[in-house]
Amino acid sequence: MEEFLYHRIDIPKRSEIDVEVQALYNENPMPAAFHVIKVAPALDKMPTLRDWFAENGLSVHTIALINMKPGQVQSIHVDYSDSDIAFNYPIKGCDTSVTRFYKNKGTKTVKYTPNTNLPFYEYVDENPEQVGEYVLTDPVILNIKMPHSVKNYGLVNRICLSFRFKNDPWFLIGKGKP
Ligand SMILES: [Fe+2]
Repeated sequence: MEEFLYHRIDIPKRSEIDVEVQALYNENPMPAAFHVIKVAPALDKMPTLRDWFAENGLSVHTIALINMKPGQVQSIHVDYSDSDIAFNYPIKGCDTSVTRFYKNKGTKTVKYTPNTNLPFYEYVDENPEQVGEYVLTDPVILNIKMPHSVKNYGLVNRICLSFRFKNDPWFLIGKGKP
């Protein structure tokens, strides 16, 4: 069966949420590469998004601001997480970046990010085979257990907000967990 890669989410009141998310970012204008922020105060700043989570039974356990420098390319990796799905929301500079997915057929080794010391699985494959890609112009859910890599080919930092939930929101793609 084909692996789930990503799915764009059509959220109501998107323009209101955009304003709330921007206000949250303005408090952390140049966050670390993966900058974890406290859940409750962050959701207080984003009441419209919090309401949408509540209406859909989504309980947030992690929120992070992700910052990628102009020209930065992530090595192909698999996230080190209890969650299989992330929900990512674009903040700025995202339209000149691309997230690519690769067939899961290589080897994975735990490594740590240089400054932030966060674990991830380095994915090694002599012949990586791309299976999909998207540009983060809308909120998306994505499968962070598939090898993936983001490239920021723009001239400005790429900033997005990333959520993990206590239960993966497979229902948002209209099917149960495979
Ligand atoms: Fe990742």
